[in-house]
Amino acid sequence: MMKAAERDLVELSDLSAESIREILERAIFMSQQPGPISGERVRHVGLLFSEPSTRTVLSFKAASDRLGVHVLELHAEASSLIKGETIIDTARTLEAMGAGAIVVRDSGEETARQLSQQCRAGIINAGGGIKAHPSQGLLDAYTLVDEFGQLEGKRIGIVGDILHSRVARSDLIAFRALGAEVVLVAPPSLQDKTLEQEGVVLESDLDTVLPHLDAIQMLRIQHERMEDGRFGNLEDYIESYQLDLARMERARESLVVMHPGPMNRGVEISSEVADGERSRIYAQVAAGVSVRMALLERALGGLSG
Ligand code: CP
Repeated sequence: MMKAAERDLVELSDLSAESIREILERAIFMSQQPGPISGERVRHVGLLFSEPSTRTVLSFKAASDRLGVHVLELHAEASSLIKGETIIDTARTLEAMGAGAIVVRDSGEETARQLSQQCRAGIINAGGGIKAHPSQGLLDAYTLVDEFGQLEGKRIGIVGDILHSRVARSDLIAFRALGAEVVLVAPPSLQDKTLEQEGVVLESDLDTVLPHLDAIQMLRIQHERMEDGRFGNLEDYIESYQLDLARMERARESLVVMHPGPMNRGVEISSEVADGERSRIYAQVAAGVSVRMALLERALGGLSG
């Protein structure tokens, strides 16, 4: 059986703006369903995470529960991956056990693409290297659409370790597709000049940018993906880039504060701001369940029949 390629979600750049809007509309529908949504036959989804996760893996599980879909979860560190089995053979094994969709997180940037080409199951990329985290891009867009109604004319800042951030890359595509302008703010050593394009501005001075933003997405420093010496001094970084109450004085009163998690409180964001009234950090987590319900339904080719 051939599968329809449109069931896969590898990168948001594979989707049209119309497809992004359709998924977000379906996620809104999912958010309004009071109880489990079940099809006529049992569906399975495989969760294949070879990098750590809290939010993504648990929200795919919560989404599966809400859809009445059974989860086949593989813990990489306790699996035959450590005996040398490839991730593709592992995915095919999940597929042979009945997984109609496979959610994959891996350090390889092309792993989800390779699975998409070699598996019949619908593939959802749950984070690939530094390149793509498309379901995060969609849930961040969902959160902002829920806040503003639409993103046309909005200016959204993404601040921090842009260079190593798959979230920044997927957010950029989702926000631009919905009509927002994006400002990428980072110290020069953590900026990625290849992301400069129409509607995307690269900046290093947060204090200059902050008063003009409608929303801000703060990112953690990804020390685990960085070669020694690139980052510099932590105190200097905190001084220039931490979103704290003093810096919030420069922002619009209506600024929406986001963070994809995991947060390093006291580094990129202070606890007062993370827990403050402008924070939508836990709204992002909640949006993740609805968006991932819509993505699982899509990856399975529907829930009925
Ligand atoms: N935002 C995000 O991907 O979080 P986890 O790494 O905890 O899944």
